[in-house]
Amino acid sequence: MMHPSLYELSFLLLHLYFAAFISTTGASSPSLFDGNLELPGGSIPTVSLEHLDPTLPPALPTQTPHCSLVVLQHDFADTVGVTPASANYTHPSDCPFPWTRVVLELSVAATDLQESRVAAIWIDGAEVLRTVTPIPMARGAFWRVHKDVTRYTALLRRLADGGGVISMMLENSNKVLPGVFSANVSLHYFRGPVDDGGSKSMSNAAHPSVRSLYREPADLVLPISKPDGQYGSGFWYHIDNETGVESTTVAIPRNTYRAVLEIFVSYHGEDESWYTNPLRNNYLHQPTAAKLSAPRANGAFRQVYATIDGKYVGGHVPFPVIYSSAINPVFWSPVAAIGAFDMPSYDLDLTPFLALMLDGRAHEIGLGVCSALPHWLVNANLHLWVDYWSDAVQAGPVEYFVPAIQMNRNAEWRNPDGQSEIGAEGLERFAGWVSSSRGNLTTEVRHKIKLKSQVQVPFQPC
Ligand SMILES: *[C@@H]1O[C@H](CO)[C@@H](O)[C@H](O)[C@H]1NC(C)=O
Ligand SMILES: *[C@@H]1O[C@H](CO)[C@@H](O)[C@H](O)[C@H]1NC(C)=O
Ligand SMILES: *[C@@H]1O[C@H](CO)[C@@H](O)[C@H](O)[C@H]1NC(C)=O
Ligand SMILES: *[C@@H]1O[C@H](CO)[C@@H](O)[C@H](O)[C@H]1NC(C)=O
Repeated sequence: MMHPSLYELSFLLLHLYFAAFISTTGASSPSLFDGNLELPGGSIPTVSLEHLDPTLPPALPTQTPHCSLVVLQHDFADTVGVTPASANYTHPSDCPFPWTRVVLELSVAATDLQESRVAAIWIDGAEVLRTVTPIPMARGAFWRVHKDVTRYTALLRRLADGGGVISMMLENSNKVLPGVFSANVSLHYFRGPVDDGGSKSMSNAAHPSVRSLYREPADLVLPISKPDGQYGSGFWYHIDNETGVESTTVAIPRNTYRAVLEIFVSYHGEDESWYTNPLRNNYLHQPTAAKLSAPRANGAFRQVYATIDGKYVGGHVPFPVIYSSAINPVFWSPVAAIGAFDMPSYDLDLTPFLALMLDGRAHEIGLGVCSALPHWLVNANLHLWVDYWSDAVQAGPVEYFVPAIQMNRNAEWRNPDGQSEIGAEGLERFAGWVSSSRGNLTTEVRHKIKLKSQVQVPFQPC
């Protein structure tokens, strides 16, 4: 007998329309803000200015936390290519597990002018926050990010039980501008009933793409990130092209009855504003357009996807978070673009694929980006729920339907102005059953993709 449990993931609505105007001079520098930050000599004002993220605020508890502690403090000055800042964690003994809610707070102040940078925070190699800094345009810029991290209870419990390492990366350079980012990372633990200001439905959910996914925090969270990240160039994988799939080998408990992969991405270099990239075309290779030394191209369609032992198991078109250096930096101060402070992560319900992984052996979870140009910073967390009443659960596949995404590409170029368009449409379905002490449940996942993008490059006489 089958009790259908239908997880309907309707990721519709990726109907993006970007009419991007890329100036032929600006396009050559990957960070559009390079060198444009010039104020009259020597008289940079000090303005205590708070930068804000306009994303709907997460429903955070309104009462004072049971305990709060600063877990990492660091000044990021010249940090390109250095190992992540990290700190050993010591949990206060009067604040035992379980907690009803845990909130991460990142508080940053910039000492001076600086460009926009990407940053991330990890707990024992599992990412809990990806964020982009605003552009401090005066001394005295500061901002705060609050994120509900209750879904990582399994990691936090390990911290509380026996320590662990909190790491943060923010690759900053003082070669051009003097600004140093001073960061404090804190954790706030709540016990007892919490008052979220009445919005119960959002509990445990920072901004999940499917609301119910983390209603019960997972029993285990495994990092799908660079294993030596603490001593190397961080936990994130660099993905430079569409064939570069980076993978981590994991063995999962044989009594896992549910699995969700949460993918974190940010895009840089030639793909920093991928949502405005035109389609590649011939004029870029002609001498008249020689100023376009970095032809950002490939069109405005990207999909971040995951594989298990090389088999495609789902993907997402990322939400185009606009960095504070993109399009026009003045647009994003002091209010940043949606999602810039707490970049969305992308959830893939892997429950239909549990049959591939329940043999107790190690399997490769891979991450890739369709049409990627250098470079993307990608890593993920594998959230697992285990059946304590079984030593092993059984699982089997039911459906695997992955037709190619239908793509329409159209480019019309005069020299060098013109426009290009991309339309993408696709529907994928995965289903599988898992038989545990909770019953024999079939999970069905549907991904619907619909995207339209138009990019115009206007002619600009030099
Ligand atoms: C669970 O249900 C599926 C289909 O509904 C069936 O094929 C499978 O044999 C069942 N598994 C067990 C262990 O009963
Ligand atoms: C963390 O603890 C380990 C030993 O357990 C020690 O080697 C390391 O230096 C400590 N790290 C920091 C940043 O204090
Ligand atoms: C970080 O914490 C210290 C106190 O420990 C405080 O003086 C400083 O202003 C804080 N910095 C930020 C950016 O919140
Ligand atoms: C793509 O990137 C991977 C690393 O992610 C690299 O090993 C591979 O050589 C690259 N392929 C091409 C065609 O550049």
